[in-house]
Amino acid sequence: MILLFLSVSIGSLGKVLNEAGVQNVTLTNSVFSGSDNGLRIKSWARPSNGFVTNILYQNIVMKNVENPIIIDQNYCPNNQGCPGQTSGVKISQVTYRNIQGTSATPTAMTFDCSPSNPCRGIRLEGINLSYMNRQAQSLCSNVGGTTSGVIMPNSCL
Ligand SMILES: *[C@@H]1O[C@H](CO)[C@@H](O)[C@H](O)[C@H]1NC(C)=O
Ligand SMILES: *[C@@H]1O[C@H](CO)[C@@H](O)[C@H](O)[C@H]1NC(C)=O
Repeated sequence: MILLFLSVSIGSLGKVLNEAGVQNVTLTNSVFSGSDNGLRIKSWARPSNGFVTNILYQNIVMKNVENPIIIDQNYCPNNQGCPGQTSGVKISQVTYRNIQGTSATPTAMTFDCSPSNPCRGIRLEGINLSYMNRQAQSLCSNVGGTTSGVIMPNSCL
């Protein structure tokens, strides 16, 4: 079965200090079309003991999606209410496997993780995302992980 999505978000997490974690989520065989965001994990830039771990995204097709792959840990609307301006949410063991298609923006992969809690164990396994028939870009900050197979845009991990 193929599922068609507009976007799939985990978050916004970490608005409060004590929050349950998110773990063991798998999304497979899905198509995203014309979305603002594809595979998004988002957290507030606030202290929190929350976490995200053991997430698998597999066999996903993107059609003209604005942020096909994005982790954003710097959510702080109007720059207010974010003491320290970093997220306490710990993100680890997130795998992106066989993600193909087109980005509607030049940056197809964004890993904008917390300076105080860098993302760990991000795995890219076979990524082929382009922007207007050209090479797209990837953006990394405070992230560690590994790659295997073809990775387009080039990995910044
Ligand atoms: C998540 O998966 C791990 C490893 O398989 C398991 O030990 C843990 O109990 C699972 N957590 C939940 C909430 O199901
Ligand atoms: C990447 O996707 C494009 C468009 O579907 C395709 O033409 C190209 O062969 C693919 N490249 C690889 C290395 O899979």
